[in-house]
Amino acid sequence: MYRIAQDIEKCYFNYRKNFISGTMLFITFEGLDFSGKTTQLQLLAQRLEGEGISYLIVREPGGTKIGEKIRAILLDADNRELTVASELFLFEASRSQLVEEVIKPALDRGTVVLCDRYFDSTTAYQGYGRGLSLELIKAINRFATAGLEPHITFFIDIPVEELENRIQRTHSIRDRMELNEREFYDRVRKGYLELAYSEKRFRVLNGVLSINELHSRIWDEVCHFISVNISKTSAVKKL
Ligand SMILES: Nc1ncnc2c1ncn2[C@@H]1O[C@H](COP(=O)(O)OP(=O)(O)O)[C@@H](O)[C@H]1O
Ligand SMILES: [Mg+2]
Repeated sequence: MYRIAQDIEKCYFNYRKNFISGTMLFITFEGLDFSGKTTQLQLLAQRLEGEGISYLIVREPGGTKIGEKIRAILLDADNRELTVASELFLFEASRSQLVEEVIKPALDRGTVVLCDRYFDSTTAYQGYGRGLSLELIKAINRFATAGLEPHITFFIDIPVEELENRIQRTHSIRDRMELNEREFYDRVRKGYLELAYSEKRFRVLNGVLSINELHSRIWDEVCHFISVNISKTSAVKKL
């Protein structure tokens, strides 16, 4: 266990070093289902494209050959017998594949990585939502990602009533993860807010603002972050 911890620390240190030398930007989007994560991620991607900045979009669970198979198990509404522990390990297995196969290589190439959900989702849903030990989840999250943390995490916050309105408005068929009670979503939302107050990388956005307003706040944050933290990259010269 000690050896694993040492490896994780070493890897984490290397990533911080690379980041400080100006080659990395890893952004994650978090929030309840239907909060607008995918909408905002796509708008940010279009903006980066317009600025000539290379980016990569990934989503959780999934994003790799193995991860997509795991995603199908996790989201299949027929899989009601899935245990809470299985759910946790399947999410983490998908995440580990994604980090090793896709996210790390992309960051190493200097590509901005935009991720639709990452380990904060596990803390919020399996920890606060399902009641698993937060300490256990923190350790497994860190192990599955080799300590790779996002530089910015946008939490798009909507009240649970807004989630219900949007489900009705869009007549969506709900997948297994979306078939949860209102109390569950209340706990998940509270969890996200607690995380947001304890982690500096979080930016909390009011998800009931218009799509354009949210995008412009996200873009301002990204520009500010780049200009403060990665002022030596070519990306900045273009902004
Ligand atoms: N700021 C917003 N105001 C109103 N509706 C929104 C907003 N952002 C997204 N939506 C709508 O809510 C639904 C869910 O958005 P989506 O981006 O798919 O959410 P998520 O990826 O978080 O599940 C879509 O129909 C989308 O058009
Ligand atoms: Mg989505």
